[in-house]
Amino acid sequence: MEPFLFVTDLDYTLVGDKESLEHLNTELEKHRKTYGTKVVYATGRSLTLYKKLVAEESLILPDALITSVGTEIYLDAKTYKLDSEWSEKLSFGWNRSFITEIVQKYPELVPQQLSEQGPFKASYLIGEKDAVKILPLLKSELEKNSLKFNLIYSGGKDLDILPLHADKGLAVKFLQQKWEVDSQKTVVCGDSGNDIALFNAGEQRGIIVGNARPELLEWYNANLTEYRYLAQASYAAGILEGLQYFNFI
Ligand code: GLC
Ligand code: MG
Repeated sequence: MEPFLFVTDLDYTLVGDKESLEHLNTELEKHRKTYGTKVVYATGRSLTLYKKLVAEESLILPDALITSVGTEIYLDAKTYKLDSEWSEKLSFGWNRSFITEIVQKYPELVPQQLSEQGPFKASYLIGEKDAVKILPLLKSELEKNSLKFNLIYSGGKDLDILPLHADKGLAVKFLQQKWEVDSQKTVVCGDSGNDIALFNAGEQRGIIVGNARPELLEWYNANLTEYRYLAQASYAAGILEGLQYFNFI
């Protein structure tokens, strides 16, 4: 056995079934202690909503924390100190106020709660039917204004507008470089649209949990490769299944 970099989404991936979560937690703690494996959470939640989840669920302390769909990295999950090097990288070419001004023309896009808005993240709610109609229009209008951005639609309801070079996958790449970990020794796990970037950022091993959303399944089927695995089991049990499949544990 060797150390690896374990990266997982939280909602409906790591979290969803308490019993298998306990089991996975035990395996990860053992691996971390014996081999120095690193554990990273990559969530769409803000730090505020992450802390709320920590109070509700039994989560082990991660070695680093990626929040707000990859726009914030905390290298010390005890003190929650924001990595300023990452923030600086994201600010290049980003004009949040101009973007939100344009979005206001589309009443179908309802701003999410204040805690979920960040300096590098503008987030809205929009149903699937409206999204099919409105998102292409919004995208072309933003482009017409020479704005640089990354639009991510997840879970059939959430729209995140992020800087062009911001997503969960690029945040993981940043950590891989910092910690000098190869893609073959990295495994990423997810269930929905904002996790596609995790799987798409290189040749890291990917585990798609059995309960994955249609938007991720569709992408998985259109991009089949031997280094991504669709688990039969759901939530943490699906992660355990994938870790065994790739011989990480
Ligand atoms: C989380 C965040 C929300 C985001 C969604 C999808 O639910 O709280 O702001 O839109 O993930 O990325
Ligand atoms: Mg999720």
